[in-house]
Amino acid sequence: MTDISKGNSVFIEHLSTIDSTNALLKRRIAAGELSGITAVSADEQTAGRGRRGRTWLTTEGSLMLSAAFPLTGIDPDSIPLVSIAAALATWSTIRFAGVNCAIKWPNDVITLSDGGYHKLSGILSELASSPCGELFAVIGIGINVNCNNMPENLMQPASSLLIEKGTETELEPLANRLLSELISEMEALKQGSGALLSRFAESCVTLGKSVEAQCMDGTIITGEAVALGPRGRLLIKTGERTVAVGAADVSVHFQKNKPAEE
Ligand code: BTN
Repeated sequence: MTDISKGNSVFIEHLSTIDSTNALLKRRIAAGELSGITAVSADEQTAGRGRRGRTWLTTEGSLMLSAAFPLTGIDPDSIPLVSIAAALATWSTIRFAGVNCAIKWPNDVITLSDGGYHKLSGILSELASSPCGELFAVIGIGINVNCNNMPENLMQPASSLLIEKGTETELEPLANRLLSELISEMEALKQGSGALLSRFAESCVTLGKSVEAQCMDGTIITGEAVALGPRGRLLIKTGERTVAVGAADVSVHFQKNKPAEE
């Protein structure tokens, strides 16, 4: 275990291998071991976790980082926006690394090309309570950084920073940048949701597009993604109705006849 943090007031504990950096932080919260912001990264996860109970594979040279944030000072109504804050932090970090990208609702960072897209990163935000009832957000982020050949059998087409810009990116400064961005977006969340949602809307490629949302209960909603609701939900206009979707897989139709499936 080495400490790779520079420039943040919070250190990143770096592990060579772990089941899942999110699972590790949740275990520590449940054991009452955490108080302030805590961050962990790993070279390899043997049981990496994705959204909706999926697996997140370790690809060569990827960045896998989780950070636990005490939610003290955050309005309970704003807690669903943690994942929006994490998406903005990841988006800015990838742009800082020199790759032009956008956010696909709810929190994937993607590159756009030829009417389709490739996923560069994924985010899993979870809640966990300490034995004394303190609530934490555990934000886990995986970024495809130095992988030359992304596996083809993934749920969504994927790319990496290396494939996009042709040069390798050092993982340690990238991890530090990501943590700094996360800390500042979580601070922004304490000030309220309005500004955060406006910035998210500016970088979110889903808005204004024809979409198909597969909800957690299996319902499919098709229509136009018209706006974000106050808690970050996607508002989809379907005929005369507008439906608010909170957690879903969303396929965005970037061009007619060229659907990009999630
Ligand atoms: C998704 O797109 O489904 C979310 C993927 C989140 C992956 C990251 S990698 C670091 C952290 N640890 C995990 O087990 N998952 C997250």
